[in-house]
Amino acid sequence: MFRFLLLFALGCIGLTGCAAPASSVLPAPAPGKGAPVGGGCDGCDGMYPGMPGQLKWETDVAPPGEPGEPLELSGTIYLADGRTPAAGVILYVYQTNAKGLYEPRPGLTGAARRHGYLRGWMKTDATGRYRFRTIRPAPYPNAAIPAHIHPVVKEPDKNEYYIDEFLFADDPLLTPGERAKQEGRGGSGIVTLARRPGGGWVGTRDIVLGRNIPNYR
Ligand SMILES: [Fe+2]
Repeated sequence: MFRFLLLFALGCIGLTGCAAPASSVLPAPAPGKGAPVGGGCDGCDGMYPGMPGQLKWETDVAPPGEPGEPLELSGTIYLADGRTPAAGVILYVYQTNAKGLYEPRPGLTGAARRHGYLRGWMKTDATGRYRFRTIRPAPYPNAAIPAHIHPVVKEPDKNEYYIDEFLFADDPLLTPGERAKQEGRGGSGIVTLARRPGGGWVGTRDIVLGRNIPNYR
């Protein structure tokens, strides 16, 4: 919680791109509707503007020639039992560029604009897999916050909710204190990267739907 409040304070000043728990910024849900899965999320609806009509299980987030170190992340999304692959789940990711900034893509407004131009969508196939190719994000300039990629999931029958950010185990900014702040939403987001032959980095992260997600039902 603290991490997201801090990110909200920083991000919405100018670094932007942050997602924040709606409990801090949005009114309580209407009576009879129940609390949103995940406790709400200010900015997660920024996943919808620009979303392609047809999604594949893999995508390219960074355009050709994007400055930065190539990075490929992949994994399997599982149902809450942690064993059954979850099909038809949309995974949306957005991140900073090699300057540590969410520089906006022209034509977008609101939360989608704050997410910057490095954003992408996947939809898991029958085996629950996802994969995206991007560049390694840089940390925010002049801030001691680890480099990260924001993920948001949208299950077919639930509202969208954020999960723990992708973080990188070799990041010197990922201190024990930062590790302790992680909520484990969807499981741990800390990825151990390996060098990929030919250059760049590769890593895996599996995601468990509902894990440490408030109001999950
Ligand atoms: Fe961020």
